[in-house]
Amino acid sequence: MLSEKLQAAINDQINAELWSAYLYLAMSLDAEAKGYKGVANWFYVQWLEEQDHARIFMNYLNSRDCKVELQPIAEVRTEWTSVLEMFQETLRHEKIVTARINNLAAIAAEDKDFASSNMLVWFINEQVEEEESARDMIFATEAVEGNKYGMYQLDKELATRTYTQASPLATTAE
Ligand code: FEO
Repeated sequence: MLSEKLQAAINDQINAELWSAYLYLAMSLDAEAKGYKGVANWFYVQWLEEQDHARIFMNYLNSRDCKVELQPIAEVRTEWTSVLEMFQETLRHEKIVTARINNLAAIAAEDKDFASSNMLVWFINEQVEEEESARDMIFATEAVEGNKYGMYQLDKELATRTYTQASPLATTAE
């Protein structure tokens, strides 16, 4: 069993991951509505990945004989002024998620809960990737700002992003 504090914090994180999924779904739909099919695909993959993150935490609580407490998912913004603004918000949001994951790691360390610390290593590494990929997208979008053909090419490139199931789920499947 986990400490009450860590259980509550992980349950809050499940909600935060589902909120992240919802945010990226909203971005995907807004991009699609504006004709950016590739950008919509990029955010659709994000929406799938965030659901994986929630699932990993749910599986972990279940495996430690703790209860998953689903909470209401708060409303998200549904429109952005540009693709660049979407990626800027993505980076801002992922930095908040990184701080939340670090807080979970701090509680696990305080509890000397080594299994939880070990589970959280995957998320600590994932957040490095999440922030880097948001920064890369800001860089790419800024590079083509004001250039319609450039944006068309970037959109085509983003259409090729594919979803891969998060490795902690792949190894626990079946
Ligand atoms: Fe679940 Fe984008 O971090």
